[in-house]
Amino acid sequence: MSADIERRDFLKTIAVAGAGLGLGCHPAAVGPNAPPGATATRVAPGVAPTALFTAPPIPTVRVGFVGVGHQGTSHVENFTKIPGVEIRAICDLLPEHVERAQKIVTDAGQPKPEGYSRGPEDYRRMCDEAQLDLVFNATPWELHAPVMLAAMNAGKHAATEVPMAASLEELWALVETAERTKRHCVMMENCCYDRTEMMILRMVREGAFGELLHGECGYLHDLRTLKLTDYYVNRWRIKHSIRRNGDLYPTHGVGPVAQWMNVNRGNRFDYLVSMATMSRGLNLWAAEHIGPESAEARQRYALGDVCTTVIRTTGGQTIVVTHNTSNPRPYSRNILLQGTKGLIRKYPEEKIYLEGRSPNDRWEPTTAYQSQYEHPIWKSLEERSAGAGHGGMDYIEDFRLVESLRAGAPTDMDVYDGAACTSVIMMSEASIAAKGQPQQMPDFTRGAWQSRPPLGIVQAAG
Ligand SMILES: NC(=O)c1ccc[n+]([C@@H]2O[C@H](COP(=O)([O-])OP(=O)(O)OC[C@H]3O[C@@H](n4cnc5c(N)ncnc54)[C@H](O)[C@@H]3O)[C@@H](O)[C@H]2O)c1
Repeated sequence: MSADIERRDFLKTIAVAGAGLGLGCHPAAVGPNAPPGATATRVAPGVAPTALFTAPPIPTVRVGFVGVGHQGTSHVENFTKIPGVEIRAICDLLPEHVERAQKIVTDAGQPKPEGYSRGPEDYRRMCDEAQLDLVFNATPWELHAPVMLAAMNAGKHAATEVPMAASLEELWALVETAERTKRHCVMMENCCYDRTEMMILRMVREGAFGELLHGECGYLHDLRTLKLTDYYVNRWRIKHSIRRNGDLYPTHGVGPVAQWMNVNRGNRFDYLVSMATMSRGLNLWAAEHIGPESAEARQRYALGDVCTTVIRTTGGQTIVVTHNTSNPRPYSRNILLQGTKGLIRKYPEEKIYLEGRSPNDRWEPTTAYQSQYEHPIWKSLEERSAGAGHGGMDYIEDFRLVESLRAGAPTDMDVYDGAACTSVIMMSEASIAAKGQPQQMPDFTRGAWQSRPPLGIVQAAG
């Protein structure tokens, strides 16, 4: 836990490991009708602002990156191509990663950013001394909150790769610090910007599915090879599989579903239940590929192979979220959205059925509706995003962040949205630990969700 968090005495009452059940509930959510497992804990005082947060416009956004491994490097490349950006600083534990990122910037014909590589806390020096507007973080999960807190406390806006934090205390600390310092604190959920997810957002806003009832989503990605080899620096990711059992990576799915369902903006996650299977895949892969007597094969992994979570919203919708990174299977985010007028699904194939429009009882390809419902951002940025990470959506999310900062506009996802989506992790861990008992979801807006405006169909000015 970072020094920033240790100072927060009101959060010391939240002991994740010790509590075990019903973690981090807002007191208002606990009452006679609260589900089993709900307990009161103290949280940031007051109600979050109902107006979306904005900061003064920044004509040229000066950026410092922390963590330039696989994903951070891809963001650096994107930022060299976004107008109105200066990459001023690069920080990484590994000097060779700093140099690699610096070269990407200079190869793009831009000035060499300052390097910061004097140990695991050098991001603090960067946050304190570099002239930056934005700190962009793509480090391992356990560093997300410490880096973001250091950035905001040094007066910088902060953006992080997913998920936003590794514990509920950290999520509350981020909310409280963003409010106190009046800085943006953004979780960069690139899957909200994928073409189909954005088309669905437009279809939802234009009423194509009627009233929303049910969503399905997940992260189903065979990561056995990556987690059990040196792909990740210091093998940071497998350490979470050893210690934690829950949906460790829900935001690629719940990020877009939350936007469609107006979570934190007229609706909110109410409670969830979660269960996980036994753990098999990591041991089997290690025994076959590293050796039956290897440390990896003999290790006990807490993470169940398939984790299934059901979230109920206060608006009456259900969302099934699945996580599996330990078994052989093709990649999927398992997207499905059912409304009163029809449904759409993505993976393994995109299909749609709209009552009165599709042939009776027959799926249609989603391309049949693309010309009518394509999101305007994809229309305007498709060419520029070509070749960027994850099919172009990473460029679009980076572009939107910069555009919002330059315009002094709200970011598409704010600290409350990032915290709500990330809290699925901790509440699923709590539910599994309590044999599937319902867990009340924290309300990071402390009631403001009722009047915060929904995300519209934003246009890219270009
Ligand atoms: N949105 C997406 O589609 C997507 C895809 C991949 C990864 N990610 C996220 O990006 C983050 C990084 O993942 P990755 O695959 O790039 O991992 P990685 O291991 O390749 O990169 C992590 C980087 O952080 C650096 N680092 C570690 N400790 C540090 C410290 N104390 N100070 C400075 N730098 C430090 C490492 O040296 C490394 O360069 C994770 O949060 C992951 O969840 C998101």
